[in-house]
Amino acid sequence: MTLPCRLCFHRCLSTGSSLTAILRLTHLKRWSFEAFSVKAVAQIDSAMQHLRHCQVLTRVLLPSSHSAQQLKNNIPLASACSGLLSLRWGSGSSHQGHNYYSSRGPRFRYVLTGLVAGTGAVLAYGLHHNKAEQAAASVTHTSSLPVYSQEEVTKHSSLDQGVWVTYKGSVYDITDFVAKHPGGDKILLAAGGALEPFWALYAIHGQDHVLEILSEYKVGVLRPEDCKKQEIANSTDPYSTDPPRHPALIVNSLKPFNGEPPPALLTDNYITPSALFFKRNHFPVPQVDPSKYRLQIEGLLGGTISLTLEELKSRFPKHTVTATLQCAGNRRSDMHKAKQVKGLNWGVAAISNATWSGARLRDVLYHYGFDTEVTAKARHVQFEGLDLDVTGTSYGASIPLNKAVSEEGDVLLAYEMNGEDLPKDHGYPVRVIVPGTVGARNVKWLGKIIVSEEESQSHWQQNDYKGFPPGTDWDTVDYKSAPAIQELPVQSAITQPADGSIVDSNMEEVTVKGYAWSGGGREVVRVDVSVDGGKTWHVAEFQNSEEGQKPELSPPPGQAWAWKLWEITIPFPEGAQELELVCKAVDSSYNSQPDTVLPIWNLRGVLNNSWHRVKVKVN
Ligand code: MTE
Repeated sequence: MTLPCRLCFHRCLSTGSSLTAILRLTHLKRWSFEAFSVKAVAQIDSAMQHLRHCQVLTRVLLPSSHSAQQLKNNIPLASACSGLLSLRWGSGSSHQGHNYYSSRGPRFRYVLTGLVAGTGAVLAYGLHHNKAEQAAASVTHTSSLPVYSQEEVTKHSSLDQGVWVTYKGSVYDITDFVAKHPGGDKILLAAGGALEPFWALYAIHGQDHVLEILSEYKVGVLRPEDCKKQEIANSTDPYSTDPPRHPALIVNSLKPFNGEPPPALLTDNYITPSALFFKRNHFPVPQVDPSKYRLQIEGLLGGTISLTLEELKSRFPKHTVTATLQCAGNRRSDMHKAKQVKGLNWGVAAISNATWSGARLRDVLYHYGFDTEVTAKARHVQFEGLDLDVTGTSYGASIPLNKAVSEEGDVLLAYEMNGEDLPKDHGYPVRVIVPGTVGARNVKWLGKIIVSEEESQSHWQQNDYKGFPPGTDWDTVDYKSAPAIQELPVQSAITQPADGSIVDSNMEEVTVKGYAWSGGGREVVRVDVSVDGGKTWHVAEFQNSEEGQKPELSPPPGQAWAWKLWEITIPFPEGAQELELVCKAVDSSYNSQPDTVLPIWNLRGVLNNSWHRVKVKVN
């Protein structure tokens, strides 16, 4: 069972087929089953509290859980699980006192596997939608089933404790399913959570069948109070209208919302699904009525121009760019480990890649009178967001004028992300996309553009998002002494395997995956990977586009806006008991990453592009 399952798991992960989708269904943590309903906005507060638990769960489960580790390392779990199952099911002393496991024969398992694999075999069962709905409904209304609290469900977050998930107010024990599907490090992320957000994200086919299958795993229903809890929101909370977020996101701060995807999910897709794209907000997400939206343009162009969303969309050609955004604080946690810094504790995933569509900023500026006279005076283009701090000050930033109006600069007033309207978290209805430039200048919920002789005077341009020398501390910092960060340095990081995980010595080799990107449109030309802490190096292979598609040709020089995903399988050094995996990228200017973090340490923990190091044990 182990081998085929593993193969189908990996194959489907890489092809993005429905197996991926279903398996990802199970990357669940605490989440309201109604989180994506019409009441979602009102529920976000309590749902997000659950997410905090998730984050802990994720971090606990992935690197340290013995069971998760077994899964990760593809060690057959049958023996471990049969013990577990006999204890839980066979002994009759299971925590919920149900002995339904024996009633499920191989048919059940094959159906489930088939469903998960998304094969036609599933259809052979001829399960009809109504039947599935009935099955799901019967779960909700079966009074004989025990009622569990969310807390109870939360306790079942590992193979040892059992793996439970919820769906529409019902509770399912999927321990058996997890045990039979290596690759379960991802499945285990599901523990204690809801299925809905993943179905919403991956739009799986055959949901009805999955419902039917799930109904066979039912163990109880969720306490009504716990369902209701998620509906209660504090109407005075400025964050109460924030949109729902995907539960897989690792939450660095809830209010304002700052979250990044788990590294292992980040590089599953060349184009990051919008729901998993890292989110960096300084304030509550503003509620913008598209019919009332006006984009103001002022400065040296003479007067103020006011543009409706419709005008922006219809007056200017739609231009599409695939571009990676990276927060200046990406990998801050590694810098913090070396020496304390202040800021959100971002891991390696405050970076994501998307396609963005909208009007070119240069087209708009030229249309409204930008010319050589303006060029002679202006130096910067400032942006103001519609999000406000408590004093009513909006988020603001600026970019150099030459970047803003350069034909090759590809700066967009974007209204679409990955082919759809911008999601609320990412700046609906319009944001600036400044390819190759630090995330902070990509102003969301764009309200105003000012062509100016001056940089933006905002805190984020003048004080924050600057790189200070290692010797500068909070007592000596002179904000004016450093320029605002614009183009970011070359970067790379390992996303798999996870730090602290165990690799199987029988495999004799380890597969390492990650991303690489450089600012200013400089193309990453090489990624070097080491398994011995940097003594010897191997060159990784790029995977420039979605799996199954031909790698794209190199972009024109200076316009490499998108990251490169890479992968390499390297034999273990003989007798090694621990591997120190390291990666470093080289860009088209032959810039490389510094080997250690201390020489680039700075008090705000920005610009950490030191070699990324991950330690794994050889079992
Ligand atoms: N724009 C506004 N209006 N408000 C913000 O808080 N955050 C900035 C930038 N634009 C921000 C903003 C920062 S620091 C980053 S890294 C990016 O948005 C993050 O974009 P994302 O949330 O779409 O990933």
